[in-house]
Amino acid sequence: MPDSAMPIPPSSLPYYQPVADECALFEHAFRHRLPLLLKGPTGCGKTRFVAHMAARLGRPLYTVSCHDDLTAADLTGRYLLKGGDTVWADGPLTRAVREGAICYLDEVVEARKDVTVVLHPLTDDRRILPLDRTGETLEAPQDFMLVVSYNPGYQNVLKALKPSTRQRFLAVEFDFPKADQEIPIVAGESGLPEARVVPLVRLANALRALKGQDLEEGVSTRLLIYCATLIRSGMKPERAIRAALIEPLTDDPDIRAGLLRVAEITLG
Ligand SMILES: Nc1ncnc2c1ncn2[C@@H]1O[C@H](COP(=O)(O)OP(=O)(O)OP(=O)(O)O)[C@@H](O)[C@H]1O
Ligand SMILES: [Mg+2]
Repeated sequence: MPDSAMPIPPSSLPYYQPVADECALFEHAFRHRLPLLLKGPTGCGKTRFVAHMAARLGRPLYTVSCHDDLTAADLTGRYLLKGGDTVWADGPLTRAVREGAICYLDEVVEARKDVTVVLHPLTDDRRILPLDRTGETLEAPQDFMLVVSYNPGYQNVLKALKPSTRQRFLAVEFDFPKADQEIPIVAGESGLPEARVVPLVRLANALRALKGQDLEEGVSTRLLIYCATLIRSGMKPERAIRAALIEPLTDDPDIRAGLLRVAEITLG
């Protein structure tokens, strides 16, 4: 942990329930200045994990959601016109390097190819960020860390990370928490008592078992929390389940009917 970081009371950290040794791995990576790649399905806790770890390590966090128009300049910065003058404005990656912060690039496989050119010298032992347009070369301080994530479920051949990029990162695979961990997470986030969350988690796991056959992706922890939140606020469970656990998964009427059937059988 950096000397400047004040210890943060656990109660003010973004809530994150560890599912394995991912917190220790993150701390080791941070201490040894190694970049980290998180893989996992949508809504399984990747973003929450990074927010939790950044707070725990006392570092500011810059999060960028990557998309297919995202260029290297969006990360590093650009000259802007301001009242007749041209002024340089740091992008989030540059700011994180200058401040010794954590930079989190979400869905990194979506970013344009020129982004990898920027990431490569920053993620090997050089740890530098050359800014061609200003002529500067920034050296990343001890406290800078790069974290990227993507969802291998959506990955296609065109969008895979190149080996020369992925082999610059430590990697950790995320999945949905096991039932005994997911129940307190959903109860804690929604306020619905654990006893009423138990059947919802059972249903989620029955629906997750259909992944790959009828469904592209299993129902997320995020959707389970939505469902429990609706029930907690007074909605009938059948209605909440349909709105939060069935409809978001598919547009196909036959598959939807099948999912509703699974819900009936699972919930009895
Ligand atoms: N281990 C966990 N501890 C605490 N909360 C969790 C955990 N896992 C999931 N959650 C809850 O699930 C929600 C969704 O998680 P999050 O947004 O981090 O998913 P994600 O993996 O980043 O998804 P995406 O790939 O779609 O961005 C969070 O808002 C949080 O409430
Ligand atoms: Mg996320």
